Amino acid sequence: MKETPINYDIVTQKINESPIESVGKASIRDIKKLVDQIEEATGKKYIRMEMGIPGLPPAQIGIEAEKKALDSGVAAIYPDIFGIAPLKKEISRFVKLFLNIDVSPDGCIPTVGSMQGGFASFMTVNRMNEKKDTTLFIDPGFPVHKLQHRVLGIKYETFDVYDYRGEKLRDKLESFLSKGNISSILYSNPNNPSWICFTDKELRIIADLATKYDVIVMEDLAYFAMDFRKDYSKPGEPPFQPSVSQYTDNYILFISSSKVFSYAGQRIGMMVISDKLYNRRFPDLKRFYTYDQFGYSMVFGSLYALSSGTAHTPQYGLAAILKAVNDGEYNFIEIVKEYGEKAAIMKKFFLDNGFYIVYDKDEDVPIADGFYFTFAYPGFSGEDLLNELIYYGISAISLAITGSKRLEGIRACVSLVKRDQFPDLEYRLTKFHEDHPVE
Ligand SMILES: Cc1ncc(COP(=O)(O)O)c(C=O)c1O
Repeated sequence: MKETPINYDIVTQKINESPIESVGKASIRDIKKLVDQIEEATGKKYIRMEMGIPGLPPAQIGIEAEKKALDSGVAAIYPDIFGIAPLKKEISRFVKLFLNIDVSPDGCIPTVGSMQGGFASFMTVNRMNEKKDTTLFIDPGFPVHKLQHRVLGIKYETFDVYDYRGEKLRDKLESFLSKGNISSILYSNPNNPSWICFTDKELRIIADLATKYDVIVMEDLAYFAMDFRKDYSKPGEPPFQPSVSQYTDNYILFISSSKVFSYAGQRIGMMVISDKLYNRRFPDLKRFYTYDQFGYSMVFGSLYALSSGTAHTPQYGLAAILKAVNDGEYNFIEIVKEYGEKAAIMKKFFLDNGFYIVYDKDEDVPIADGFYFTFAYPGFSGEDLLNELIYYGISAISLAITGSKRLEGIRACVSLVKRDQFPDLEYRLTKFHEDHPVE
């Protein structure tokens, strides 16, 4: 029997009993189930880094506002599809104060999680122009966005940005956009899974080309202001969260409340459409919608068809949170900084034990410490490494499912790892390093 931190035989038995052929290729949910079973059988806790879910309590201001709204009887009434007025106003204030952009409340639309904002946008932007029916993903990315494309039957193209940082991004993007079939560009910033953040130079390149080829940039700010290298927490004061919206009018922003306000369970997000795009008319939209105006087609076409708007109470909750943030009374960044502090410590354990960070730089600057990081070990593919780490009480996911070409890489999410587990993590990585010496 091999001596591993988690009983070798039990782990092997549980893998064999599951439908999983290779832990390194399994989906996030499959890994979660397997690890739950091993934990139960061995009584040992894993360092669980597979799920990207918040690990902090929800913003209390939101909960109070939701209770009040519920007590006032809103449950009986259909919410307006375009969102309740106080929330639209606070979203518009929020983007002015933290992104320094002017967007009318019309284009500030609550959605059922940022996930629905994406779904509705993918539908709408790929129907604006008969010739432009394909989304371009700047990968690595959030796997569910690709699932949404497949479910909708919408085409996408993709490339891994690893080799195309800085000025190199221009030619790479142009090679796709010049073909004429691309409707839109999608990326997350900070990036899930790699935690790279585009520099201003890169955002400018994306914006310039989006304007030149008239494509829409869908910028997913699910981890808004969580690049802790800079302090984006002061409303109305620079520095502002970097965004393509500084440099082009062709944008839709998705701002999730799941991570920044630890509000994932209430499924409320924000979709922000530039005034210019909101009011633009695209005759081809009439193939699917009553209107040719973009904003109307999005709201009264796509969002109406999907869910008839967003539940009332989470809208009141988010409105109250945003008001406190906008008024400078609630510093959400101070709270989520915990993720960055944990990441710095955890990354050091990995680096001290022969591992390296895969996506390690933004151009020539080391990446920030935040919600995720990527790692690899010399001589191992990502799949083999995950297959082995499961015996060491460490679970994570392979970068292979994120559109990354770095097949040696693994994504680690820090949110669910508790500080009192750090000694276990350090011991397990040290043991792994001893058992797998690097030549
Ligand atoms: C990049 C990215 N976009 C969108 C989402 C989904 O956000 P929401 O919970 O608001 O639907 C996530 C959640 O993990 C994410 O990582």
